[in-house]
Amino acid sequence: MEIGIDIDKAAGFIRDGGLVAFPTETVYGLGANALNPLAVAAIFEAKQRPSFDPLIVHIADITQIEELFEKPITPLVYELAERFWPGPLTIVHRRSLLVPGIVSAGMDTVAVRMPAHPVAKELIRLAGVPVAAPSANRFGQLSPTRHEHVVKQEMEIDYLLVGDYDIIGIESTVLYVENNTVTILRPGIITAKELVEFVPESNIINKGENTKLSSPGLLKSHYSPLKPLYFLSGEIKMLPEKSGLILHGISDVKLDAEKITYTSKTGNLKEATANLFTALHDMEDDPAVDTIFIETVPETGLGIAIMDRLRKATYQYAARFDVG
Ligand code: TXA
Ligand code: MG
Repeated sequence: MEIGIDIDKAAGFIRDGGLVAFPTETVYGLGANALNPLAVAAIFEAKQRPSFDPLIVHIADITQIEELFEKPITPLVYELAERFWPGPLTIVHRRSLLVPGIVSAGMDTVAVRMPAHPVAKELIRLAGVPVAAPSANRFGQLSPTRHEHVVKQEMEIDYLLVGDYDIIGIESTVLYVENNTVTILRPGIITAKELVEFVPESNIINKGENTKLSSPGLLKSHYSPLKPLYFLSGEIKMLPEKSGLILHGISDVKLDAEKITYTSKTGNLKEATANLFTALHDMEDDPAVDTIFIETVPETGLGIAIMDRLRKATYQYAARFDVG
């Protein structure tokens, strides 16, 4: 895999049906020409992603939704796009015939987002095609927020475009939009509260309430480090040997650990979000750490998205460390 900052070259790979990992303001994506089914198939192959999990199509200009979404496009789609794009918002809507079935895992909808990261924007513009991209990690593992996190995944990629700055740190908010109803399929930095304030006249449904809609982002286990990860609970009086402790500066924790990392010293959730996956990657990579503990955050506002990711990350290890 070639690593560099040559956006022109990266765009060439996309045009030629290749795979390019690139920075976005949320996490790194693994991109291919969304209109080329063979190129998109290579994404699933590289990530070992099950084919039932659909991809997000990234665009550089709002007019591109006209070729991706089936017409008529609900006015609410335009309202949301004009307010939140470019940015960390993904809109799911009925797909047009132009979108290959493999992109949407055979569903009749497609997810679209216009990223704000300058490198991503320029890449998509130069490629001249919409770019399908999931996060650039092997299926089920931690999302990459720095280019080194992509490198360590050892995937078959043609080019890794580097741009480690302006990072929000967790994936976009995913919304299903139909008529006057917005369903939050994946929480993110754009919160339910913000959406309600922006479109007060629409119905905002939180994921799970509408059982007819499925989004693999609703899987219980996801975003996991390769080492056991547990929530820190008040009952834990002592951590086992070789523990790593991730704190957000929320509560007064006085525990000894082999390695302690703060995502924020002051409980600032924006800062904590930006550093969340990086802190988890650092623990995963550190040979001195066998078990990771992480402080919880209050589940309001941005805390909803953070806890969503952490619940999935801890799921396979059981949410609670056995103190006995
Ligand atoms: O911030 C992000 O969204 C990043 C960057 C690279 O843009 N991408 C990302 O992609 O997180 P991925 O593949 O890791 O997550 C895509 C999410 C999944 O939860 C998937 O189930 C959902 O979007 N999704 C995609 N297409 C969908 C569709 N047609 N209907 C429902 N959910 C969909
Ligand atoms: Mg992902």
